[in-house]
Amino acid sequence: MNVKKTDVVIIGGGLAGLMTADYLCNDRNVMLITKSELNHSNSWLAQGGIAAAMTKEDHWQEHFNDTIVAGGFHNNRETTEILVKHGTRLIKKLIEMGVSFDKDDNNQLSLGMEGAHGKRRILHAGGDATGKVVVEAIMARVLSKIEVFEQEMAYDLLVENGVCLGVFTKDTNEDIWFIEADQVIIATGGIGQLYSATSNCLEATGDGIAMAYRAGAAICDMEFIQFHPTLLMNGDSSCGLISEAVRGEGGRLVTEDGQFLMKGKHSLEDLAPRDVVAREIFNTKLNNNKIFLNINNVANFQYRFPSIYEMCKKTPELLKSGLLPVQPGAHFIMGGVKVDRDGRSSIENLFAVGECAYTGVHGANRLASNSLLEAIVFAERLASTILGAEKIKRDGGRVPVVMKTFNNLPLPTKTEIQEVMDRYVGIMRDKEGLQKAVSWFDQFKDISMEQSHFQLSVEDKIICNMLISGSLIARASLMREESRGGHYRSDYPTTNDKKWYGYQNVFLNGDLY
Ligand code: SIN
Repeated sequence: MNVKKTDVVIIGGGLAGLMTADYLCNDRNVMLITKSELNHSNSWLAQGGIAAAMTKEDHWQEHFNDTIVAGGFHNNRETTEILVKHGTRLIKKLIEMGVSFDKDDNNQLSLGMEGAHGKRRILHAGGDATGKVVVEAIMARVLSKIEVFEQEMAYDLLVENGVCLGVFTKDTNEDIWFIEADQVIIATGGIGQLYSATSNCLEATGDGIAMAYRAGAAICDMEFIQFHPTLLMNGDSSCGLISEAVRGEGGRLVTEDGQFLMKGKHSLEDLAPRDVVAREIFNTKLNNNKIFLNINNVANFQYRFPSIYEMCKKTPELLKSGLLPVQPGAHFIMGGVKVDRDGRSSIENLFAVGECAYTGVHGANRLASNSLLEAIVFAERLASTILGAEKIKRDGGRVPVVMKTFNNLPLPTKTEIQEVMDRYVGIMRDKEGLQKAVSWFDQFKDISMEQSHFQLSVEDKIICNMLISGSLIARASLMREESRGGHYRSDYPTTNDKKWYGYQNVFLNGDLY
């Protein structure tokens, strides 16, 4: 086995990983690995923007309240306060670092509007290319100062006596590596690819959450999945996301006969929290009705939303009619690797940041444009925790685990996993369906839970990670007998504060299997 050594290894190349690297790279040797390429991440795809109270008409407390209300009152209040308070300061820092957010005609920050925000407070860049602009700016600062290994897949963590010592990986030549590090940071993003309709990049397969679970880390609140209301559809396949910011600028959801879908359904109508809008579209479409986003009243659509415009241009009649066919798709997981406010997991020297981490800031449903904010705020805290810790003296003589081989069972395909998740663990769930999903996942528990299974190809390891993430989502959903935010049970359709308020669904390896 080949061995690489570093102070800190970061797994994942989205904004959370890159930002952590940026904060650390002047004082620590940092290695960053990603199973694909740095420009393949959900951060890169983020359209709408990044939310923060930036004007004197706004205040972090208002942002806090909106975050909690959208979150179904399930947020951790302490971490949520950290998010919104420090968010404002760190956005100013991003601007100093050279991130160029869009300005209005008076050379002031142009602030967009999105669902469940009481104020215009969404900063955006490149119109609707905020994630790409921010990630590129951080990449320009950090890449010359760290070692980056693209196309290298993290297989499993090495944990001895409750301490994480490094990570096993496989590269494109099928060579197996052990990366020995003082601190291991999981920043692998979300799980959108578990569903057939998703806004997420192909890489979002829950790898970091599954790997942490196999290693024994606590995983929390996996039942809360956000479905974004508006994926652009071409027949049955989705072509990409249409930012909620389009509704913030006047786009309206309409039925086939031109009625406003959200009228009378919620006081904020089209800008109600995402779970409310997504469920309404889902229910309407159940009866084979089509739903459209009418963009005819969106001023300067082409210039305000250039990437979405390009996407729509591929089907010219869409722009002619101004009616974009939409349906909801998996967008964000609110749960993940349970961490404290400084990014520490339940395993010593193992950290998590970004979407794969559960900090409690999103509650049961993330407020729009709070995800890039989470990445920059909690990356800073995590980095200062590592910088504040005494440097570990490595003995340099560690012999990594012995390789094992197994007789492989046939694994399901990605499509089969998506079919189970769509059918039983989607926008609407019930006991019977969730039990079916749980038993289906159980068939694969031995192979998907096996650590250091290097016989598996990278593709099969990813399938194993999807199986674990899916199983955790299904089991957590079965346990929570109420509806809240991104978790809706048709057999328990109301929020039950008496029984479930503040309850966290925490799983440890061994709890499930
Ligand atoms: C969007 O632009 O609608 C997505 C942004 C987000 O998920 O916060």
